[in-house]
Amino acid sequence: MEEVLGRFKGSRGELIGILQAVQERLGYLPERAMLRIARFTKVPESQVFGVSSFYAQFRFKPVGRRRVMVCQGTACHVRGGAKILDEIEKRLKIRPGGTTPDLEYSLDTVACIGACALAPTIMINKDTFGRLTQKKVGDIFGGTPEKGGE
Ligand code: FES
Repeated sequence: MEEVLGRFKGSRGELIGILQAVQERLGYLPERAMLRIARFTKVPESQVFGVSSFYAQFRFKPVGRRRVMVCQGTACHVRGGAKILDEIEKRLKIRPGGTTPDLEYSLDTVACIGACALAPTIMINKDTFGRLTQKKVGDIFGGTPEKGGE
């Protein structure tokens, strides 16, 4: 935290940049970090919380070591993206926005990851997986699908 703050002067105008840098370092914005940022920038705590909750990019809960982003864009949707999401939810037992209790996986949806030719697609951290089927999802994630799964 202090190392990240050391890169900034502490001016109000840096608030968003500081929030981004801290989230990049910690993976999310814990309450204690936001209180520290408020002191550092001399921005009232309520404003730091207000600004950070305004932007969808900021997260307030820990994220998993593997961030899974399931594409729900048009190309992926027409090729069964919803089924892929459903299968991943069943195997990881979390919904989009959630993180597994062991902090191994976080799950989110995205509008397009720019690999439409490979639809349906997902990303795990920086790796793209395409032409997914429910079976391939099983190979990637393991786990047991709930009853009714493939
Ligand atoms: S719509 Fe899914 S990669 Fe573009």
